[in-house]
Amino acid sequence: GQPHIAHRAGRLHVEQLPLDALAREHGTPLFVYSTQWMLDALAAYQRGFEGRDALICYAMKANSSLGVLRVFAEAGCGFDIVSGGELDRALAAGADPSKVIFSGVGKTRAEMRKALDAGIACFNVESEAELEVLNAVAIEQDRRARISIRINPNVDPKTHPYISTGLKGNKFGVAHDRALAAYRHAASLPGLEVVGIDCHIGSQITEVSPYLDALERVLDLVETIEQAGIALHHLDFGGGLGIDYNHDTPPAADALWKQLLARLDARGFGRRKLIVEPGRSLVGNAGVCVTEVLYTKPGEDKNFCVVDAAMNDLPRPAMYQAFHQIVPVSERTGGASTTYDVVGPICESGDWIGRDRTLNVAEGELLAVLSAGAYCMAMASNYNTRGRAAEVLVHGDRATLIRRRESLEDQLRTERFD
Ligand code: LLP
Repeated sequence: GQPHIAHRAGRLHVEQLPLDALAREHGTPLFVYSTQWMLDALAAYQRGFEGRDALICYAMKANSSLGVLRVFAEAGCGFDIVSGGELDRALAAGADPSKVIFSGVGKTRAEMRKALDAGIACFNVESEAELEVLNAVAIEQDRRARISIRINPNVDPKTHPYISTGLKGNKFGVAHDRALAAYRHAASLPGLEVVGIDCHIGSQITEVSPYLDALERVLDLVETIEQAGIALHHLDFGGGLGIDYNHDTPPAADALWKQLLARLDARGFGRRKLIVEPGRSLVGNAGVCVTEVLYTKPGEDKNFCVVDAAMNDLPRPAMYQAFHQIVPVSERTGGASTTYDVVGPICESGDWIGRDRTLNVAEGELLAVLSAGAYCMAMASNYNTRGRAAEVLVHGDRATLIRRRESLEDQLRTERFD
């Protein structure tokens, strides 16, 4: 089919709509998302799990804007949350609480209470200490908390160290060797009901092998735990599937799951209820950030292209040296290309969006930062008292402003002096 984000007649479109027109209407920096791209990404998972008992829980930390959550809630997705705030957002967007799972190493008692009240499907518990607290909170509320224990399978996802989470040295999960003891203890606590096991090994994973390694290790544990008389109704393999930022070639979700399901079938677990927690792979390539070129500036070593988006809007390059493609919104026929560092207005050398990019642009023109649907707006800040950008959701020829630009008044609302 038609790519959902592409140049047509020299103008970059998201589905049917040209980005220059959207930027004129809403200003820049502006995030624009393709609904169809998200639905197609979701469909790849749904195809992969066809005929299986599977629940896709969108890891909403990747992009928690209500308008985006709404798309996934309406498509029947569950949600993987990591805070009470995310629970409120998911419910506000129409999520079914019985399809919500709660991950994270530092859940507070208040968050546990709120999630128990909402009746979520499962707490993905990350430590033995958390088991105790959750048990106490559940007993106080006269409830039983359904739990899974996150296992740290100690496999290398071969990704950036900041987003690799399943190695021994990471803060996440319970070590493989302690897992059985943790499950025995959980099963003995009256406020808890053991329902599953989970793992999540990292993010932006572009190979199948780390998933296969983690799968084997988790299944070994499932066998041991069930031999001890503790039934695990579901197996949750987390998220982590990568996207194409810079000619990356991650497997498609259905292709990945074809291989994983073959292993599950071979080991006799193919009929077990499965949960996945994809974030980036459902939204990352669905979004772009449109930004205006403020100045071009020749330097002694480098040329700079100063744009109106910055590290507060697009933190991934500064935080992870991440690469995002940057393309002109309107293709030019005249003019010459120059190699620039594309940088924002923030007072830090770390405020760059792309390095050594060859672009044919002039002041006042628009650039699009691609693959900006995941972990961009969700990590945006007000650094330098910059208001957060606006967001538009496109579906076909319809555009909806799902977040207006943040005003200074919005920013000052919580502050006082006297
Ligand atoms: N489940 C758990 C328990 C997680 O910690 C994460 C992501 C996910 C699922 C979803 O992973 P995904 O499918 O999106 O890879 N800010 C970083 C990524 C941080 C990922 C944190 N955990 C970035 O911009 O690359």
